[in-house]
Amino acid sequence: MSVYEAIRTRRDVRAEFTGDRIDDAALWRILGAAHCAPSVGNSQPWDFVVVRDRTTLRTFATHVAAKRHEFARSLPPERARTFEPIKVEGIEESGTGIVVVHDDSRGGPQVLGRATVPETGLYSTILAVQNLWLAATAEGIGVGWVSFYDEPVLADLIGLPGGVRPVAWLCVGPVSEFQRVPDLERFGWRDRRPLRDAVHRERYGDNGRAR
Ligand SMILES: Cc1cc2nc3c(=O)[nH]c(=O)nc-3n(C[C@H](O)[C@H](O)[C@H](O)COP(=O)(O)O)c2cc1C
Repeated sequence: MSVYEAIRTRRDVRAEFTGDRIDDAALWRILGAAHCAPSVGNSQPWDFVVVRDRTTLRTFATHVAAKRHEFARSLPPERARTFEPIKVEGIEESGTGIVVVHDDSRGGPQVLGRATVPETGLYSTILAVQNLWLAATAEGIGVGWVSFYDEPVLADLIGLPGGVRPVAWLCVGPVSEFQRVPDLERFGWRDRRPLRDAVHRERYGDNGRAR
């Protein structure tokens, strides 16, 4: 699969996990792709916690369900109705969670390139997530990003030391298919923006449609 094809067909997966587990060889290949990401000052501030213990998966799924409920209750009635059928995770069905975590102290106090933009450390870890996601797509493996959690709860669940932040819980596993249209678009939550609205020439806002 070409890079462009992987980018085009990549999907956030929630409902299409088959229940089979990704095999270790493929798991290591996609982790290897994540580990190839660029990073500020070559700091490589990421780590990957692979979670397969059924009890841990269930505990996390229960927490996420509570957070989903909390969000649903915060919505005005019409949005709540739109949100209702949208699945936001496939934690147990995928059988494997990869928690991508970020250590901002990695690389010491003088990380080359981070002095002026402190968030570049975090940006680097996010790039590892994207590498993993695209590599998984090329393998025919689904990935679903879950962010409906309280950070301290997840940090405690997987035993993170102080200063190491969970950045993403990724549900990873074989899928029956990749949807062609993102779930949030299919269910009427929010559409993708046309590229033209996102591109500006010389100064921000020249297209009059930036927001
Ligand atoms: C930072 C981040 C957090 C996300 N959190 C969730 C989540 O908690 N639950 C979920 O179902 N999808 C989550 N997603 C997936 C997005 O909903 C999805 O990427 C978006 O709707 C576009 O769909 P696509 O990835 O299939 O193109 C997240 C994506 C990102 C980048």
